[in-house]
Amino acid sequence: MNILVTGGAGFIGSNFVKHMLKNFDHNIINIDSLTYAGNLKNLQDVQNNDRYFFIKGSIEDRILLENVFQKYDIQVVINFAAESHVDRSISDPEIFLNTNVIGTQALLDAALNYWKSESENKYDIKFKDEVKFIQISTDEVYGTLGETGYFTEETGLAPNSPYSASKAASDMIVRAYHETYGLPINITRCSNNYGPLQFPEKLIPLMINNALKEKSLPVYGDGCQVRDWLHVKDHCRAIDCVLRYGKNGEIYNIGGNNEKKNIEIVRLILNKLDKSESLIKHVQDRLGHDRRYAIDNTKIMSELGWSPEYSFEEGIQKTIKWYLENEEWMEDITSGDYINYYDHMYNC
Ligand code: NAD
Ligand code: DAU
Repeated sequence: MNILVTGGAGFIGSNFVKHMLKNFDHNIINIDSLTYAGNLKNLQDVQNNDRYFFIKGSIEDRILLENVFQKYDIQVVINFAAESHVDRSISDPEIFLNTNVIGTQALLDAALNYWKSESENKYDIKFKDEVKFIQISTDEVYGTLGETGYFTEETGLAPNSPYSASKAASDMIVRAYHETYGLPINITRCSNNYGPLQFPEKLIPLMINNALKEKSLPVYGDGCQVRDWLHVKDHCRAIDCVLRYGKNGEIYNIGGNNEKKNIEIVRLILNKLDKSESLIKHVQDRLGHDRRYAIDNTKIMSELGWSPEYSFEEGIQKTIKWYLENEEWMEDITSGDYINYYDHMYNC
């Protein structure tokens, strides 16, 4: 099978590319525009694999996409490419709409045009066999929860940040291509990922990096916001499961059953690194900050047989170890533009 992965040089995409090359015989074609979040060093260990092909380019580039579909005879698309950080979407929403919505639509058009069979009848579109478009979405499209309850696939969409609104819009356009043209699709909506290779703008790697450097740890507001943490390797297994067994047109929520308050995670990291809690600094809260996310996993567990393997305790221990053993990787990405981003974001 020839699988087009977009955004494969980012955090989850690079973990997924490696998961697939390790466990299957598929060819993996990775299109990534290498924004600040894309890093080819994430893929160093597979760059010479003869089933792996990298193309630097944007999912908004329609001509590039058409050529790639033809050249590699693409059968599956897994769309990870996105602007993914909520704080950046608050400062500069426009690029989120361009990449996440317009880019996704360009990718859908490329898939539709390449996969539909020639037919005189525009009211009866037929597709090549075994093709599928998987949209990697997020639990943030559902908005925020109170102290109880869970997001199910039936929960209404109520995104609160420009990022989550752009992801909800891309979900809707993917759904529309399924309903209108019959394009075979799945949408996955996942909770917060953590693990190796995550860019240190996100909570866990940012706190590990700051703690190691004895810099203050910026906790937004009271730090009692709750996220449901999923190890990235469990997420990759879930996507691979949806690819193989997902029912056409269905949405699958993916979560780790690991609800934690931000402040608990920050304290845990300090404790594991033997650093003082005096490094914690409560700072101005994020605008429109969602209070709680929690996923109901029932559908993917009962219908597709997936379940998370990592407990949070094991996952965070291994994650901290990975960052300790990969200080050079961290140094590389925090030495350039990251300094400007950090100073601007945290008013240093
Ligand atoms: P990331 O920011 O680490 O990586 C995004 C990748 O997309 C980068 O490699 C970047 O260069 C690439 N990219 C950006 N714009 C592009 C474009 N126009 N064309 C091609 N490539 C482009 O993101 P991530 O954390 O790995 O998230 C991957 C996907 O999973 C995103 O769609 C995100 O919304 C979703 N998601 C993430 C999480 C999480 O906790 N990180 C949770 C749920 C869903
Ligand atoms: O829920 C899935 C989403 O998880 C994904 O769709 C997003 O792509 C991903 O970025 C993530 O969004 P969050 O906003 O939940 O993740 P982030 O790591 O930015 O923040 C996690 C929590 O920690 C959130 O409540 C904000 C808080 N936080 C974050 C940072 C960076 C802090 O308190 N201080 C910080 O410096």
